[in-house]
Amino acid sequence: MQEKDRIRHDASAMKTVLLIGIGAGHPDQVTLQAIQAIQRTDVFFVLEKAGAGKDTLTAARHAILGAARPDAGYRLATAVSPERRIDDGAYQASIDGWRGARTAVLAELIETGMRDGETAGILVWGDPCLYDGTIQSLHELIAAGADLAFEVVPGISSVQALTAAHRVVLNRVGEAIAITTARQLARLNAADITNMVVMLDGRAAFTRFSDSDLEIYWGAYLGTADEILVAGPLRDRADEIAQMIDEARTRHGWIMDTYLLRRG
Ligand SMILES: C[S@@+](CC[C@H](N)C(=O)[O-])C[C@H]1O[C@@H](n2cnc3c(N)ncnc32)[C@H](O)[C@@H]1O
Repeated sequence: MQEKDRIRHDASAMKTVLLIGIGAGHPDQVTLQAIQAIQRTDVFFVLEKAGAGKDTLTAARHAILGAARPDAGYRLATAVSPERRIDDGAYQASIDGWRGARTAVLAELIETGMRDGETAGILVWGDPCLYDGTIQSLHELIAAGADLAFEVVPGISSVQALTAAHRVVLNRVGEAIAITTARQLARLNAADITNMVVMLDGRAAFTRFSDSDLEIYWGAYLGTADEILVAGPLRDRADEIAQMIDEARTRHGWIMDTYLLRRG
């Protein structure tokens, strides 16, 4: 047997996990590559999250499966995703603990939910390479000895959904772009910002820059029927957007928003 064939033979006995980016909310953002990955999956791992919004996100995933696999010739293996409880006093330790628990849940699904030679799929919101811990979990499992291969299918991230919805380019000529979280934003000054995308907020962290010359391009529930977009000078828009966030959270019970802050 040639070396090439031997590798192929060994690989066929291996378990393979596909991390499939499914876009940030609009079903048409599912790429042809994602559909092909969905079509070669034997079992989908569903990590059910507790809390508001989970039904919407779960329904979106089932709708994608229904459209890409009308044959329904796949299995579902479901587990409860550990709750993300953040202790501000011990932030890193609580994140590490939560990630470790999530990795253990994945390990259990891989162990009990699939056979050697099978392919499992995980439908990851947006792009698996942006603020998602699944890639790291799989690297850790392989480093710990799991006989596992995995592939990543890129998805349209909420950053791309935001800039397309506002019809803006992420950078201006020769300028840097940063992507960060609301938690990090709280430590910055307006002068630190050139083009900065902020994720994982939902609490209007931008209001502390209301008297700066920054511009904001804000979007909530991007790509969905509930999408809201607001853009303009932050000093004129900050209060209005903060109020929209409160109202939207009351109306839907949850919110996901992303925004670009740009030096004016
Ligand atoms: C855990 S991160 C996941 C990011 C995802 N992997 C991506 O590529 O967009 C969750 C954050 O993504 C952003 N997000 C995801 N989907 C969104 C949407 N449809 N509209 C607005 N923001 C969204 C929000 O900032 C939310 O807090």
